[in-house]
Amino acid sequence: MSPTRTCLAIVLAAGEGTRMKSARPKVLHEIGGQSMLAHVLGAVAKAGAQATAVVIGPDRADVAAAAQKAAPQAQIFTQTERLGTAHAVLAAKAALAQPYDDVLVLFADTPLVTSETLSRLRDALADGAVLAALGFEPDDPTGYGRLLVANGELVAIREHKDASEAERQVGLCNAGLMALSGKHALSLLEAIGNNNVQKEFYLTDAVEVARKAKLKAVHVVAAAQEVMGVNDRVQLAAADAVFQNRMRENSMREGATLTAPETVFFSHDTKLGRDVLVEPNVVFGPGCVVEDGAIIHAFSHLEGATVRGGATVGPFARLRPGADLGKGAKVGNFVEIKSALVGAGAKISHLTYIGDASIGAEANIGAGTITCNYDGYNKFKTEIGAGAFIGSNSSLVAPVKIGDGAYVGSGSVITKDVPADSLALARGGQVEKAGWAARFRADMASRPKKRP
Ligand code: UD1
Ligand code: CA
Repeated sequence: MSPTRTCLAIVLAAGEGTRMKSARPKVLHEIGGQSMLAHVLGAVAKAGAQATAVVIGPDRADVAAAAQKAAPQAQIFTQTERLGTAHAVLAAKAALAQPYDDVLVLFADTPLVTSETLSRLRDALADGAVLAALGFEPDDPTGYGRLLVANGELVAIREHKDASEAERQVGLCNAGLMALSGKHALSLLEAIGNNNVQKEFYLTDAVEVARKAKLKAVHVVAAAQEVMGVNDRVQLAAADAVFQNRMRENSMREGATLTAPETVFFSHDTKLGRDVLVEPNVVFGPGCVVEDGAIIHAFSHLEGATVRGGATVGPFARLRPGADLGKGAKVGNFVEIKSALVGAGAKISHLTYIGDASIGAEANIGAGTITCNYDGYNKFKTEIGAGAFIGSNSSLVAPVKIGDGAYVGSGSVITKDVPADSLALARGGQVEKAGWAARFRADMASRPKKRP
């Protein structure tokens, strides 16, 4: 693609999505923790589009807001009546009237398309075509438009419903996405009629309009997986599976080891460094960064968490948003961490809740430690100093500070700040009664046994 060519992307997001059976519009359903619409807007940005138009259905403030959030510069247009894909593109006429070299048309319910494929469509325009359609070969072509090709040029796209028996034998199908020369886009689209079975204005008819004007139309082929459309939740899961495989493969190619990749689940923005080891059955929610050399043991769940170099997590750990583990820190089994900075080399090895806290470097947090951060109304902070040692089964009632190098005796309920290098004990004192157990047993043995 010539870097000097400008590009407008038009994303059609006016789908009704009734087959999702959802209160949520179809294009806002998520893949890898990100809406399908945002996936498409991301691909468009990566393909170098200078301007983006999103065409939504009437009364879809939620879709408009999501589009604006994913692409703040995007212009929103409303298609008030659903009269076909060409009609939908023309809803963005004000954007189309601007002088762009390339116009890309995408469907928001075809979320896995890559920027590389979009660039290939643009390359075809740079090579002299006025239209480049995206083709693929599905296992079952029923229902798709067919690409009719002759002598290396695209002659027509025939919708399944309008196709003859012979045309239905064609296996090369229309993915729906298209690149149009900006110079010709508006006139091509405006020349499209609705003389077809569905009485719709088909975007696909732009091919025949172009041919009649002696302009060149071509096609580019993509893998079927990349252009799969999502109409129901079964297809949503299938698209998510493809997306997960991409993320797994990318992370491994970038130097992470996944021992059982098919059991690790990513979000769209998960970042794994080099020599990271991820054991089986790990889930990454949005916003996770795992730096070089860290280990995520089996059955851990992370979301909005940063794991710095050489730190270890799990097995069976939960890192919630704002968990930030310093270099070489250790978070072990059945530990939950939320909004907490954990210093380098600190150890929280078992059965602990740390929330709204900071933990100094090399501190040791014993099994069963709980930061009591919430009184039912407000959250409070716990600060634990560097090198502090919290004995097992302690409750730290926030707001509270444990000084550097301080010790907290096991089983303490700490309600007051503990100065550096001191020992705090806050538990019932121990009482001993010498010989009591022996006397008790003797007494019990002397009594007649009760029958149940
Ligand atoms: C379309 C293509 C077909 C292709 C198929 C791939 C046309 C005429 N047909 O058919 O060749 O094989 O996609 O899945 O383009 N939309 C609007 N407004 C409308 C109509 C559609 O915004 O008035 C949007 C939909 O939300 C959807 C996309 O355009 O995202 C495709 O529309 P749809 O009705 O699903 O087209 P298909 O019949 O599947
Ligand atoms: Ca469709």
